[in-house]
Amino acid sequence: MSYLNNAATTWPKPECVVNAVRDFMLNGGANSSRGSNSQRDMKTMNIMLDCRIKAAEFFGGYDDADPILVTFTANITESLNVVLRGYLRKGMSVLTTSMEHNAVMRPLRALESEGVNIGIVSADSNGLIHAEDVKRKLASAKYDLVVMSHASNVCGTVQPVEEVAEICRERSVPLVLDTAQTAGVIQLNASELGLSALCFTGHKSLMGPQGTGGIIWKREFAERVEPLITGGTGSYSHLETQPEEMPDKFESGTPNLPGIAGLNSAFDWLNDKGLEVIGEREKKTGQYFLEALKKIDGVLLSGLSDMRGRLPVFAFNVEGKDNGILADGLSRLGFETRPGLHCSPAAHKTLGTFPQGALRVSPGYFTEESEIDGFIGALREVLR
Ligand SMILES: Cc1ncc(COP(=O)(O)O)c(C=O)c1O
Repeated sequence: MSYLNNAATTWPKPECVVNAVRDFMLNGGANSSRGSNSQRDMKTMNIMLDCRIKAAEFFGGYDDADPILVTFTANITESLNVVLRGYLRKGMSVLTTSMEHNAVMRPLRALESEGVNIGIVSADSNGLIHAEDVKRKLASAKYDLVVMSHASNVCGTVQPVEEVAEICRERSVPLVLDTAQTAGVIQLNASELGLSALCFTGHKSLMGPQGTGGIIWKREFAERVEPLITGGTGSYSHLETQPEEMPDKFESGTPNLPGIAGLNSAFDWLNDKGLEVIGEREKKTGQYFLEALKKIDGVLLSGLSDMRGRLPVFAFNVEGKDNGILADGLSRLGFETRPGLHCSPAAHKTLGTFPQGALRVSPGYFTEESEIDGFIGALREVLR
């Protein structure tokens, strides 16, 4: 079996991540801030703080990577909902792009029905956003927020986030970044970019367990966001109102503690390997895949045709074939991919692959070139 669906979630996970989850469940297992000072209680608090410190450092958090400015969530969908629904109000305007995942578009469409205005910057046919188009849009009307993904989950195109961030800084418009596809592959520094919120998910290239994610906040922005969920925080228990203090403000209810233990260990794994090494390996595998794919007749690749400016997330169709049937045939031969629309109808419309979608193949850090050879052979067989 070859797993080529790492854009959905990475697999396998590093062994240390699995061991950390297991160790927490076997030997730890206490709740956080909801016990006494037993060793197990302290162990849980240490793991959470440790992971918060590592997340803040990993993403270049504000105020010398203050861990208090990290919020844990269940995934980036929750992170984006916390930010968008907590900040945008009737009469406000938000600018986004034509390449967004429904994790951005669905909260925005729901907010639109409550009176929030949405502006959209269109990408070109490779799925690339041009910074001058963002500049033009921001100059044409007053926007209260910009939200965009760092890279497409459909065709892997990486957006010019540095240029967009500079434009947002010049105009003092808060920028929120969806790093679902890039966190753990491309180095990011939230405070250098001046991001108001960097949203991340733990289970993709960060190599953590499913059910983990978070937000790296700029303090002044976090102060202007209302919490989406309120409830017990294990702190300020004399109050029936939500604490204003971070990180409690956005973290009501028992967190995914086994998941955070795994994510904590995943940060160590990433730091040990180094993002440059990880990025280079993924680029090399991606280039190998692209060259092999080009040799198959009738392939229509969406997005950029070499590895410059993209991730190894490949969407393509084969002339005259249904991508769902191809994915089914491939899976019967042991190759896991993802067909269809990838929760991103707008991106597929931009790329000209709506409504049929595309077959998405996404090798990961652990993918071997021999698996790519196997996949190409299997694709030829299914096409026959
Ligand atoms: C660009 C992008 N944003 C958001 C998401 C949603 O991620 P999650 O399901 O972890 O919330 C994904 C997942 O595929 C994605 O690729």
